[in-house]
Amino acid sequence: MTTLVTGGAGYIGSITTRLLRSTGRSVVVLDSLENGHAAAVQDTPLVVGNIADTALVSKVCRDHDVDEVVHFAAYKAVGESMENPGKYFDNNVTGSQKLIDTISACGITRFVFSSTAAIYGTPESVPVVESSAVRCESVYAQTKLMIEHLLHWYGQTKGLRSVSLRYFNAAGASDDSTLGEDWRFSQNLMPHVMKAILGESAALSVFGNDYSTPDGTGVRDYIHVEDLATSHVAALDYLSNGGQTLICNVGTGHGTSVLEILHATERIVGKPVPHVFKPRRTGDPSECYAATILAAEKLGFTASRSLDDIISSAYAWHATHPNGHNTN
Ligand SMILES: NC(=O)c1ccc[n+]([C@@H]2O[C@H](COP(=O)([O-])OP(=O)(O)OC[C@H]3O[C@@H](n4cnc5c(N)ncnc54)[C@H](O)[C@@H]3O)[C@@H](O)[C@H]2O)c1
Repeated sequence: MTTLVTGGAGYIGSITTRLLRSTGRSVVVLDSLENGHAAAVQDTPLVVGNIADTALVSKVCRDHDVDEVVHFAAYKAVGESMENPGKYFDNNVTGSQKLIDTISACGITRFVFSSTAAIYGTPESVPVVESSAVRCESVYAQTKLMIEHLLHWYGQTKGLRSVSLRYFNAAGASDDSTLGEDWRFSQNLMPHVMKAILGESAALSVFGNDYSTPDGTGVRDYIHVEDLATSHVAALDYLSNGGQTLICNVGTGHGTSVLEILHATERIVGKPVPHVFKPRRTGDPSECYAATILAAEKLGFTASRSLDDIISSAYAWHATHPNGHNTN
């Protein structure tokens, strides 16, 4: 039996794929390689193609005897989703609907999905619990919520059991620093911090230092990508053991400010992070971090790596892979 990983050539998917194989699972990756790299898949079987290609997905499920799916494949740039909503509704929602329909028709009943804390928008209170109001503030977030709804209805009508993992801020690189995020395509804070400290960009822009947080900068929940990968193994095990459809946060439960990240990076690397303060960006909440009780209770998952682990692995990866997985 085999786990199908869509988007397994991307940042989180490649690290999860390797972890899944280390648990003894057989894995096949399906990725268009539009934003992923074959090199990141290493020696796991890779099928290059689109999740919306129903004939291809059926064939992959048949040929590899797939019995569970982890679905990472999506576009993830919030800004782009506001400029080109059709691109996001088409790839993320229509693509996922076709994928879910196809795997369901193949008799697969276990599905883990990459959702996002962006669904909560500006939270009413922190830590954010799963029962909080959802208030999508971008097309990207809305596409993820729509997929959660699709999964609910395929559960009601087709017996599909799913875990939607609402990731907080994925950060860092694999523990051995051979897999990580390509900073050329990332809008996340950590790659931009690394770019600035490695002299590959001008000063880092810190948006807002007048929030009602202890040091005035925005507070987020940064979770090490290896911990995030572990949560997928826990979710698959939960479903294999008969677990019912679940939506749950994946974070550390701790908020860290932008300045705390900068100071910790300076301490670990031993150099200053050049930065400038800019005005707040519209829609950025002052604080957002996860309530983690549900993941602990239902999945037995708790993040174990520290902020220092995140920074050390990110630095080691970016210093040696300025072009991501491209060697030139
Ligand atoms: N990185 C984060 O902080 C974060 C936070 C919350 C949620 N997520 C979600 O986690 C998932 C993985 O994120 P990531 O950071 O690894 O992104 P990524 O862009 O590195 O990986 C996504 C992969 O999916 C592939 N892909 C996209 N559309 C496809 C399609 N139609 N068919 C086949 N392959 C396709 C891309 O080529 C890429 O390899 C995404 O769904 C993203 O929305 C990420």
